[in-house]
Amino acid sequence: MSKSTAKASSDTALIKYWGKKNEELRIPENDSISIVLDGLDTVTTVEFDEHFTQDEVMLDEAKIGSSSVEYKRVVKQLDRLRKKAGKNGLFAKVVSKNSFPRATGLSSSGSGMAALTFAAAKALGLELTQKELSIFSRLASGTACRCAVGGFAHWMGGDTSETSFSKTIFDKNHWDIRDVIVVVSDQKKKITSTQGHKSAQSSSLFKPRQKGINQKIKDLKKYIAEKDFKKFGELVEADCLEFHSVLLTSKPPLVLWQPGTIQVINEVQQMREEGIECYFTINTGFNVHALTLPEYEAEVKKRLERLSLVKSIILAKVGGGPKILDEHLF
Ligand code: DP6
Repeated sequence: MSKSTAKASSDTALIKYWGKKNEELRIPENDSISIVLDGLDTVTTVEFDEHFTQDEVMLDEAKIGSSSVEYKRVVKQLDRLRKKAGKNGLFAKVVSKNSFPRATGLSSSGSGMAALTFAAAKALGLELTQKELSIFSRLASGTACRCAVGGFAHWMGGDTSETSFSKTIFDKNHWDIRDVIVVVSDQKKKITSTQGHKSAQSSSLFKPRQKGINQKIKDLKKYIAEKDFKKFGELVEADCLEFHSVLLTSKPPLVLWQPGTIQVINEVQQMREEGIECYFTINTGFNVHALTLPEYEAEVKKRLERLSLVKSIILAKVGGGPKILDEHLF
């Protein structure tokens, strides 16, 4: 019997990954940059025991049925790690808890799959490098590839499994950016990112977006290095809108925003006109990340939480990579 627990944080992409060159290996069409978010966290305990007769998965207090997509995704990742460790057929119990609503566009698969990978690898006695952990995490969820490293993370898209992994380009202490996360709905989104990626190339805007991506990556790195919040925010927002334009023009169209999403966007723009520096970004979903600086955080929170369509606010800041914890969930 061996048991390990890991905590990993989710992230928000600043320059987003959309579309895959290789679906099975999750090789992305483009590089991406994110900040890992301390405040959107998943804790996962994995126990392997030769007496178990099947894998068991509990997510947020509920047992996950073996025919569900979530269960199959977890088992597939356990299989990759079991194979690496030469322990095929050794079943596991997995218990995982999120500090935020899952499957609502807040990248819970990123923190979830990174935490699962770190906990399972440790429980199996695997000694993996950071690069290997990023690669293994990527195989389960693209976002997890960045969550596996922490800070300001650059996922180098690559062309092969070996060359597609993330690096921390600036650590979490480099620049104190705050993320006021606005939950306008905690209902599960109708389409997962994994499904959405498949239709990326069907948008007439996909190719033009790809053409400009490497320049955006270069520019964003520079703005982060210089801590130029205005240029940083304008670029992040522009990439978000370009990404959603690809979604809107995909076949079938992916219209993910809800009325509350627009209300938050309008308020962020209004605050900026008043000199309160904040910028929005939205992943595959409807909930909004309002990025700001520490001196504006309280005001941004106050302004956004009083909007009629806002359900709740979560505060996050730039966080580190996954950690192994001594305390287990069971
Ligand atoms: C819009 O990583 O959730 O958030 O690789 O299929 O697990 P899979 O998809 P996922 O896609 C993330 C899409 C995005 C952009 C980003 O995080 O870079």
